[in-house]
Formats: sequence, structure tokens, C-alpha cells
Amino acid sequence: MTIDADTQKRLAGEAAAALVESGMRLGVGTGSTAAHFVRALAARMKDGLSVSGVPTSESTAALMRELGIPVLGLADIDTLDLAVDGADEADPDLALIKGGGAAHLREKVVARCAKRFVVIADGSKLVPVLGTFKLPVEVVPFALPAVLRELAGLGARCAVRVSKAGATVLTDNGNIVVDADFFPIDDPARLATRLDGIPGIAEHGLFVGMAERLIMGMPDGSVRTVFPRAR
Ligand code: 5RP
Repeated sequence: MTIDADTQKRLAGEAAAALVESGMRLGVGTGSTAAHFVRALAARMKDGLSVSGVPTSESTAALMRELGIPVLGLADIDTLDLAVDGADEADPDLALIKGGGAAHLREKVVARCAKRFVVIADGSKLVPVLGTFKLPVEVVPFALPAVLRELAGLGARCAVRVSKAGATVLTDNGNIVVDADFFPIDDPARLATRLDGIPGIAEHGLFVGMAERLIMGMPDGSVRTVFPRAR
């Protein structure tokens, strides 16, 4: 029997919720897998678990409020005990591409505040090399033409993200998302450093050296945990 991707995501979300202990302050990710985590948390709260968390997007904040999970801001915490979030791709070192939901700036800030960062996904997200999924780059609108030139100079083919209705997608921070094709990304750390140095990029979706583990729901219904490859 093969289970569908959404069920794989649910299994991963539930497995991550099982890592949560009462009193924890959480970073709460964005996307369909993270939403499963939020729902699994809410179910555990009905059984007495007490937690609160910093959401990584307005949509996650709305879901947390709907399900009665206390919402914190970054001013309410020094550190977070655990951040849990999805990913668009992960390589064997657990370098990630994130930002398919245009939330990667807040996701990176929140993950950086956490003592532990756990990634949840369906089984398709682990890849040998990053970059089939185009790298989301959040760009300050004023800087867009200059940033597009810089990205082209690094060899990327770029497209400004638009909605199905054809409108330019804006992030929760009021910025534009450029999807940059850098395939293959053989050295994610090197590319991340280059992108960090481009003025006008608010944040890019490469998360390098941040994930503690990747929990995947698999097509056969099992749950697989992957740790960064030893170097
Ligand atoms: C949002 C993200 C998501 O975590 C990523 O896009 C994965 O989404 P999904 O869980 O829906 O597959 O980075 O910015």
C-alpha cells in the first residue's frame, strides 16, 4: 500500500508533536506539513499538554488562534525550546530549500532563535542535491532590478513569483519573492554566503547547518528520521 503525500506529511507532523513537552516555547512553521504539526499539537493540548509558540506567518498565527494555541511574539521570548517547520528540499547534510510558502524570512529568524530545529516533510523532499525546487529569494521592492541583475550574474534564471490570478506575490513583510533556478546547488553554504552579501535581498531560502533532524512520513506508512550526514 502506498499512502499519499498529505498523509505522509500528517505522519511527520504527528511524530514532531510527540517530541514536544509541557512548558515548551515553540517556533511554529508554515505550510501544509507544519499545519499538520499544529493540529497534532492542538490534539495533545486537549489531553493536557501546555505549550505556546511563535508563528512564522500570519496564516500559521491564524491557525494557532483558531485551535487555541497561545501565540507569542519574539519580544516575549529569549530563546525557543524547539522550532518545527517544513521544507521544499533537503539534501543529505540537511541543507534545506525553504520558502515555497513565501515565509522563509520569518522561518529563518524563528529557527535561529530555537535551541533545536526539526524539519518535517513527506518522503519526496530528501534529494541528493538541492535546486530542482527553485530557490525562493525575498527581495525589497525598491531593489528588485538590481537584485535580478546580481542573481543573473551568479548564473540563476529568475522569475518574480505571481499568484494564479497573475498578481505579484507579496510576503507578510511586504516584499517580493523571486524564484531563482540555480540547479544544481553543489555547495549550498557558498551560495548562501554570496546571497547574504547582496544588498536588497531580505532573505533567501537556503537554510544551511540549522536542522537537527528531518522527520519524514514515507509512502509505505513508516516514519523515517534522518540526521545530517557525518563529515
Ligand atoms: C514555507 C515553507 C514550507 O515549509 C515549505 O514550502 C514546505 O511546504 P509544505 O509543507 O506545504 O510542503 O518553507 O515558506
